[in-house]
Amino acid sequence: MIAPAALADLEEILELEEGGFDEGTRWSADAWRTEIEGADRHVLVVRQPGERLDGVATFSFAGETADLLRVIVRPDTRRRGIASDLVKAGRRWATSQGAQRLLLEVETENASALWLYVKLGFEPLAERRDYYGTGRHALVMEVAL
Ligand SMILES: CC(C)(COP(=O)(O)OP(=O)(O)OC[C@H]1O[C@@H](n2cnc3c(N)ncnc32)[C@H](O)[C@@H]1OP(=O)(O)O)[C@@H](O)C(=O)NCCC(=O)NCCS
Repeated sequence: MIAPAALADLEEILELEEGGFDEGTRWSADAWRTEIEGADRHVLVVRQPGERLDGVATFSFAGETADLLRVIVRPDTRRRGIASDLVKAGRRWATSQGAQRLLLEVETENASALWLYVKLGFEPLAERRDYYGTGRHALVMEVAL
């Protein structure tokens, strides 16, 4: 049940933010509105018919490179392959745009996300120290398309 996001999904996307990130690292309504409306963005949501959103992911594309900017799955529907399906769908979109590779940044302490990306074939490219604040580093990862 993966579909492009609409502005009508905004409220439920913000609920996913609350379940997925600490207050200081959550994206705002304005940030998500910019994603949904952005011409170079591809925002996907997952929902069972008649239910709340299970997950969301947003991707960008520029030149030969696409980026996975965010992926969040509702806490009670994790480990069912939802994030994997979202990333694979974004990968197909990036390929259709002509991208040669898909990049992302992930906090080095975010084990769930790291394992997800490794399982999907992403490989470490570089580390950005203090990227998320003092002592909170980012790993840049990429997969060829
Ligand atoms: C990271 C996140 C998106 C994963 O979503 P998910 O739908 O549970 O992921 P999947 O079910 O597709 O998992 C695929 C694989 O990733 C790995 N993985 C995912 N969560 C894991 C965990 N908690 N511990 C270990 N491995 C994990 C596993 O290899 C898993 O395969 P398996 O279940 O067959 O063992 C989810 O935990 C989440 O929303 N976290 C909060 C937001 C966040 O940190 N987003 C990423 C940065 S933007």
